Amino acid sequence: MRTLFINIKQVLQIRSAEERWIKGEAMNDLPILENAFLAIEKGRIQAFGPMHECPKFEEAVEVIDASGRLILPTWVDSHTHLVYAGHREQEFVDRINGLSYQDIAARGGGILNSAQKLRTTSEEELYEQSRQRLEQVIKMGTGAIEIKSGYGLTVESELKMLRVIRRLREKYPIPVKATFLGAHALPQSFKNNQEDYLDLLIEEALPQIKEEGLADFIDIFCEEGYFSVADTERLLEAGSQYGLRPKIHVNQFTALGGVEAGVKHQALSVDHLEILRQQDIEALKNSLTMPVALPACSFFLGIPYTPVQELIRAGLPVAIASDYNPGSSPTGNMNFVLATACIKMRLSPEAAINAATLNAAYALDLAEDVGSITIGKRANLILSKPIPSYHYWPYAFADNHIEAVYINGKKWTK
Ligand code: NIG
Ligand code: FE
Repeated sequence: MRTLFINIKQVLQIRSAEERWIKGEAMNDLPILENAFLAIEKGRIQAFGPMHECPKFEEAVEVIDASGRLILPTWVDSHTHLVYAGHREQEFVDRINGLSYQDIAARGGGILNSAQKLRTTSEEELYEQSRQRLEQVIKMGTGAIEIKSGYGLTVESELKMLRVIRRLREKYPIPVKATFLGAHALPQSFKNNQEDYLDLLIEEALPQIKEEGLADFIDIFCEEGYFSVADTERLLEAGSQYGLRPKIHVNQFTALGGVEAGVKHQALSVDHLEILRQQDIEALKNSLTMPVALPACSFFLGIPYTPVQELIRAGLPVAIASDYNPGSSPTGNMNFVLATACIKMRLSPEAAINAATLNAAYALDLAEDVGSITIGKRANLILSKPIPSYHYWPYAFADNHIEAVYINGKKWTK
């Protein structure tokens, strides 16, 4: 059965299959088609074009009149920690009362607090909590996602998280990529002993992850008080022996040289970058690494926003992601991320949409499959409510503009 959208006010983000990322000034261009049709067959985009060229399809067709509405590719969320146990709203209140994110971490809260909760939560319960979050973000327009481990911090609990991610991948129709973030924080039992903890990850966790095929990527929190550049290099080197490409947390609070290390190890992305030096920008030039900004994290923690304008001026691409996690961004709402990128980071709506779709797909190694309106890509689409323009999306920043989400051509009804 073919699905045919007709009279679409605007189809956004039309790209050729060769366009894998958009960089520099070109990020401010968003190719669109006015008054258009779009046909889906076997879960993929089959054809699109202006209404006056709409073919007369003969086989059974479900026709949807999209008058006044926009169609765009679903959001790609390339950085989340959506598998976690419980929540940390007490730390949120503590921060309102004056403590910093680092103060809270220093007294055993933060990531260690979530790790404590996760260890005492069964795999079944963890799956249940995570499944609800995943269903919620799909409803809000996310059609491909990355999920990290990193709240286990023991081999057993890290594997538990990765198995939950695998189960989500098997049960849900959107692409789900898994990242091993065992080096998210140093567990209390390894106090000041990064070396032994990395030995454990490298010697015990990585072989099992490989054997069970549990991860696509490897990540580390390269930050003062967490892991050094030398630790980062060591782990990424080991990860590459197991075929895991890096996507790393760098430059959130301090710039240590993690960006250069990421580029050197051919990271698919370097994420956060709230603190960015000229030498970091230089390192990214002529690399294959996507810089990823996480505006909802900056918003929630009240820390600087990634200077994305500088990246764009340097001719670089930018992606944006939610960083969905219980400590620094307790939302996976990519519509909010888009609006925050425009309002707070001053990305144009066009650049923000490029950053949340095609560039984000690149950052997940999914540019062939999702992230644009391209014949043959998955029909993972957002159908908007009747709205005046796509500029209205981030402008009316707290409203829900989504009428329906289509995943592999089927309306998402959960
Ligand atoms: O990306 N910075 C490191 N990791 C997460 C936060 C984790 C947490 O606070 O639970 C982040 O912001
Ligand atoms: Fe993160």
